[in-house]
Amino acid sequence: MKKHILIVPGDGIGQEVTAVGKKVLERIAEKFNHEFTYDEALIGHVAIEATGNPLPDETLEKMRASDAVLFGAVGHPKYDNDPSAKVRPEQGLLKMRKELGLYANLRPIKLFDELLSASSIKPEILKGSDILFFRELTGDIYFGEKGRKNDGDTAYDIAEYSKYEVERIARRAFEAAMTRGKRLCSVDKANVLESSRLWREVVQAIAPEYPEVTVEHIFVDAAAMMLIKDPKRFDVVVTANLFGDILTDEASQIAGSMGMLASASVGDSTGVYEPIHGSAHDITGKGVANPLASVLSAALLLDISFGLKDESNAIIAAVDQLLKDGFRTRDIADANTPADKILNTEAAGEELLKRL
Ligand code: IPM
Ligand code: MN
Repeated sequence: MKKHILIVPGDGIGQEVTAVGKKVLERIAEKFNHEFTYDEALIGHVAIEATGNPLPDETLEKMRASDAVLFGAVGHPKYDNDPSAKVRPEQGLLKMRKELGLYANLRPIKLFDELLSASSIKPEILKGSDILFFRELTGDIYFGEKGRKNDGDTAYDIAEYSKYEVERIARRAFEAAMTRGKRLCSVDKANVLESSRLWREVVQAIAPEYPEVTVEHIFVDAAAMMLIKDPKRFDVVVTANLFGDILTDEASQIAGSMGMLASASVGDSTGVYEPIHGSAHDITGKGVANPLASVLSAALLLDISFGLKDESNAIIAAVDQLLKDGFRTRDIADANTPADKILNTEAAGEELLKRL
């Protein structure tokens, strides 16, 4: 298979982990006789530094022209405590999602058995957890009208959804549920928010088309509690942009570490694959970041954008083997991990390639 992949490392540890993700793609191409070509582009703080724009047109054009994008992270601490900054790295990410029509963000939360003890949640609660989140990614309070009034003393962000927007993400979630445990949980705040009442109405209207799928509707506050109390009760979860952002960070603790979680953003055109962790400037440049989320993002890319299931499974099996052999990066190590089994980013990549 011939494919063109755009590598967009972005900021902070995005650079370090995406380098490993790319090596894994190269190894897969070699092993399975594919011809992958690569290009690179800027986004986020590094793009602002180079061009003044967090998403340069050139990057967007390259994204549109590629078959898939392997993405790192965006963000820089210098903006976090400067609410008045007009240009911010995150604007690049949001614009990319909107421009490419990436309305569905898939975040699989799957615990590798070897990491049962890496989580702060009790192993007996966690064992067997396997959740697939569908986070809506181009609507909600993220993209509604926002601004200031009363001479800047009052600020607002509007949460808005159209039926069409809810329907297309809900359908994807129903379809996915059909291939899994046939249970769908729709998370909203319909007891308070009008946009959530529309959300619920639309999900209820579609449900009869999927009679085999058991649907439940849960308020987001209760869902946040149940995720930790009994994660196994969830199969597929579909929710709005902001709720999905928060719940998937929480759910990352089910998988042991943010450093293990990959995501796929898909929609009308090129798919974008990225770790759910951020740029993590506190550990940037130290070479200790966990590259496995980027590696698993590469696996999702092969599976979802290219339909290469065997290749994708080969990567997941290699990650599994690496963990079975006792290797850990710092974030997933515990008191029982021998010092010589704790790997830095590059070494983790090398050990992984050996197992591919
Ligand atoms: C994510 C991130 C982004 C989001 C930020 C960086 C804008 O947290 O992808 O989950 O809120 O969507
Ligand atoms: Mn987030």
